[in-house]
Amino acid sequence: MAYRLLVRDLAQLATPAPAAVPARGAELEAVEVLERAYVLCSAGVIEAVGRMRDLGPLEGDVEELDGRGLSAIPGLVDCHTHPAFGGDRVEEFALRSAGATYEELQAAGGGILSTVAATRVLDEAALTARVERHAGWMLQHGTTTWEGKSGYGLDRDTELASLRAVRSAAGSPTWLGAHAVPPERGDADAYLDWALAEVLPDAAEIADAADVFLERGAFDAAQARRYLEACRAAGLALRLHGDQFTESGAIPLAVELGARSVDHLEATGPDGVGALAASGVVGVLLPASALFLDRPMPPARALVDAGAAVALATDFNPGSSFTTSLPLVCTLACTQLHLAPAEALTAVTVNAAHVLGRAERIGRLAPGYAADLVLLGADDWRYLAYALAGDVVEAVVSGGRVAVRR
Ligand code: NIG
Ligand code: FE
Repeated sequence: MAYRLLVRDLAQLATPAPAAVPARGAELEAVEVLERAYVLCSAGVIEAVGRMRDLGPLEGDVEELDGRGLSAIPGLVDCHTHPAFGGDRVEEFALRSAGATYEELQAAGGGILSTVAATRVLDEAALTARVERHAGWMLQHGTTTWEGKSGYGLDRDTELASLRAVRSAAGSPTWLGAHAVPPERGDADAYLDWALAEVLPDAAEIADAADVFLERGAFDAAQARRYLEACRAAGLALRLHGDQFTESGAIPLAVELGARSVDHLEATGPDGVGALAASGVVGVLLPASALFLDRPMPPARALVDAGAAVALATDFNPGSSFTTSLPLVCTLACTQLHLAPAEALTAVTVNAAHVLGRAERIGRLAPGYAADLVLLGADDWRYLAYALAGDVVEAVVSGGRVAVRR
């Protein structure tokens, strides 16, 4: 008999219920709320969801979890993280607090390249341990599905080890082979010649997607196109870091190539908003990164009002966003991006799952979906965003079993 778990007597249950996925525009607010609810999980899958008064007697062995005073939402999905790194950037953080900018530090050889040096010295076991530790932090904050990028190796062995580490920690690996140009490779074009010939064939066997940092000082639109076209031909889904500091052509390229997402968008203007809203590409908003770097927030309200599909993610990394908390990101979404709590919930669940190509089974509380749930310590699910420090997660159910209990 399959292991079954009944989460009973929940004060509330909230689940996105958009007519189509990804939810776009007004559909982001389509969240269904049940009072006095239960969720029945069986063999890692949701068997039934409903009101307590409609729950009949259950046959056989069923473990019970008391949901009194708690609210259930789907397990959170972090569709943009950089968890495979060594060292930290606390020294750089202190310099930024005294006025140095992220771009200045990057241009002086600090920033991403300093983390590359601290990552290359780790062997695969040490790198895997780091990724597992970061995945553990995510789980504590309610993240049950996540994407993890490489991009701090930029040599063959460390890039492939990063992707394997993410896979072995149950994340979805993205090859961020075009994150920066490592010092030993000369210019961006020479680096891409090498990376596409020597790393892509093996990276494509491990990764689900490819990503590029399209930005002044990193890779330009022509280089990003070459990288992404080669990755697409190798079977990878496409993502872009775009419009973080400057509008450098990321949105038109993402739309043309049919990318899954373009992420950041802090510098996106009205034309970019219109082009993204008219496309099937998801805009991934990273307000924790904008906050951490004291940069402008992305035009989230304009995007949603124009009918775009948006997701939210942490951008967890040592330099621009040292947080694994999606509840904190939801607070920022409501206070800084002016999204409603329901829009934020959709953006960190079903739409984020869509970015990872997994929305058929992940991101909703409904029969047939993965039995991944977050129980919030409040009788109103909107505490997800209302609790400012993000410390509102009372329990996490992952794959139908209790994984976190406070
Ligand atoms: O998404 N912008 C590029 N990459 C990361 C930051 C990487 C770093 O600073 O180490 C980001 O913000
Ligand atoms: Fe990022």
